[in-house]
Amino acid sequence: MIEFRKSPLRAAIAGLGWSVGSRVLTNADLEKMVDTSDQWITERTGIKERRLVRDDEATSDLATEAALKALEDAGLQGRDVDVIVVATVTPDMLFPCTANIVQKNIGAKKAAAFDVLAGCSGFIYALDIGSRFLTSGSSEVVLVIGADTLSKITNYKDRSTCILFGDGAGSCVLVPSSDGRGVLATVLGSDGSGADYLKLPAGGSRLPATEYTVHNDLHYIQMDGQKVFEFAVKILVDASISALDACGLTADDISMVIPHQANLRIVEAARRRLNIPPEKVMVNLDRYGNMSSASVIVALAEARDSGRIGPGDAVLLVAFGAGLTWASATVRL
Ligand code: UT7
Repeated sequence: MIEFRKSPLRAAIAGLGWSVGSRVLTNADLEKMVDTSDQWITERTGIKERRLVRDDEATSDLATEAALKALEDAGLQGRDVDVIVVATVTPDMLFPCTANIVQKNIGAKKAAAFDVLAGCSGFIYALDIGSRFLTSGSSEVVLVIGADTLSKITNYKDRSTCILFGDGAGSCVLVPSSDGRGVLATVLGSDGSGADYLKLPAGGSRLPATEYTVHNDLHYIQMDGQKVFEFAVKILVDASISALDACGLTADDISMVIPHQANLRIVEAARRRLNIPPEKVMVNLDRYGNMSSASVIVALAEARDSGRIGPGDAVLLVAFGAGLTWASATVRL
């Protein structure tokens, strides 16, 4: 048993909530849109279907639903929240940030609110930042959200990317804890030399929206899939080991690994190298595809909701993404 006085102040997860788009896009649907097949998509990615938002919905809508569910799960309300951190690569607009919109929607009047952009690693980056508001003693309740609607920036004529992505949001409520629960360690990293491998070229200050950018599909995701794949397997392994080492745990101490849900082959290759049994790795990409910043937190919340993990369990979160970035965290629930 962990002795109360010896445990440092940590950011503990008091509530979890998640939401995905209401429209289902199956591999059979994609077969009618581009030159692909259910067999190719299943064998190369493990994805069977994804959930997309409606045309009139945006990232803040999913983020708000996930946040309200997490607050209810924690027995708290919007007015209790001190800080809102939203990780996203698909904000409702370039500014104001999506966290501001969520703040209004949930009535978090006293909260500070801002976004974090770190590709698909974004949720773990936001978790790290959010937990520091608690361990510093400056805040009591922090809402961390990972939310993306990649369908809004996906080119449904590009078969190498449109098969991969789905829309979702997940949220956790963090509160201070001294009983051994909470975020035990985080590892964040970045290698900007890989910035070109996964990007949305236009719409920023380098290439503002023009007729040229629209006609040349520069407002859609561009990706060098093989380069990202090679990077992903190595970094998932390295970042997992670093997060375990940072808190003195081994893979055997972990109840479940929650990896970024990009591609089953990536998850499987990393799992084998880490020598972790398949039943200890959460996979939901078959139903949701890659939801970018939402991927890890939705998988964590779903694993908890389905009873696969519960109070006292140690989990390992690990992700990679555009940047190129990577991030990992060990958390005791
Ligand atoms: O959050 C981070 C996001 N990104 C990632 O995690 C992406 C990581 N990369 C991947 O998941 C994989 O690289 C992909 C799933 C994107 C592609 O799989 P791959 O095994 O690396 O395929 P490839 O790019 O090497 O393409 C092999 C072949 C090519 O045809 P040729 O040149 O050999 O004739 C492609 O044109 O497969 C073709 N292809 C397809 N065929 C049917 C590419 N996309 C498709 C498709 N359906 N959807």
